[in-house]
Amino acid sequence: MAIERIVNSTSEPDDPKDQELENSLRPKDFASYIGQDRIKKNLKLAIEASQKRQEPLDHVLLFGPPGLGKTTMASVIANEMGAQIRITSGPAIERAGDLASLLTNLQDGDILFIDEIHRLHRSVEEVLYSAMEDFKIDIMLGKGPSARSLRLDVPKFTLIGATTRTGALAAPLRDRFGMVHRLEFYSPTEIAEIIKRAASILGTDIHSNAAELLSTRARLTPRIANRLLRRVRDFADVNGDGIIDEPLTTQALQLLEIDELGLDPADRQLLSSIIESYGFNPVGLNTLAALTGDEATTIEDYYEPYLLQIGLLERTPRGRKITHKALKHMGKSIGSQDEQTKLV
Ligand code: ADE
Repeated sequence: MAIERIVNSTSEPDDPKDQELENSLRPKDFASYIGQDRIKKNLKLAIEASQKRQEPLDHVLLFGPPGLGKTTMASVIANEMGAQIRITSGPAIERAGDLASLLTNLQDGDILFIDEIHRLHRSVEEVLYSAMEDFKIDIMLGKGPSARSLRLDVPKFTLIGATTRTGALAAPLRDRFGMVHRLEFYSPTEIAEIIKRAASILGTDIHSNAAELLSTRARLTPRIANRLLRRVRDFADVNGDGIIDEPLTTQALQLLEIDELGLDPADRQLLSSIIESYGFNPVGLNTLAALTGDEATTIEDYYEPYLLQIGLLERTPRGRKITHKALKHMGKSIGSQDEQTKLV
């Protein structure tokens, strides 16, 4: 289907200007980071303890759907520690040697952030184990019979790993993290606060009821909230005096085809496909992917978490199932011999 989605929350915006704006909106410390209170409380304590002991912070694994602030949280941790952060991603580290060079170039106390850590190559992962555990790595010098292994010390770093799914992580890797935190979807109130904060950084006036309306359309995800805000700001600049009020926001959302639950045409297409082809029967992830033309991982990472969160989809042992709420939202009905479900 590969539709360009305003509500998608892939890790990097395509437009470099969008990326730059997004970076400018990222909170730098716990005080300005809205939401995820339980995680912040735990991290603050761990940071204070490690600073008291003058030890590096334990390795941290952050997991959860894209766009909820894993990278932001890692930068906040680094900032609160007064540490430098080096940001990379699983697929970017192709060989064990790449990791060795990354690690040996760190300094004591530095933070290494590996996004999409579930996509690390096995050979790289193995080097990471001893680095995480003993701050030592074994590298192979030469090839064939003359090859020998060399043990190297690496600086006392903290690894922050991010992944959309802990299930995709090998157990030995997962077990080496001292802290594992799941980022949760934000409440609409938190999203409204994030939108107001971002509008103020962007120098845009936004009415409270407009921020509240937007907060219900952003899939409870800050990255989407900020992206929507920028599109509505464009709309207000072109069609109004630049002030974002509720009527303008409603019109902009209509133009963007984002409905009352924050679903875009691609989400609605997914739900329609399930309803039409499977009704209330469960459907496997791969079948679903074939049905919509998406990768299974795209469905699992981007569409599904929010649809599950708001109760439009259900996960059963036999696959994904549509709910009555989804049927009602889509204005559809499913007829069966024993039951005529009419919800519209
Ligand atoms: N921008 C993106 N995520 C944010 C958050 N959690 N708090 C404040 N601003 C944000």
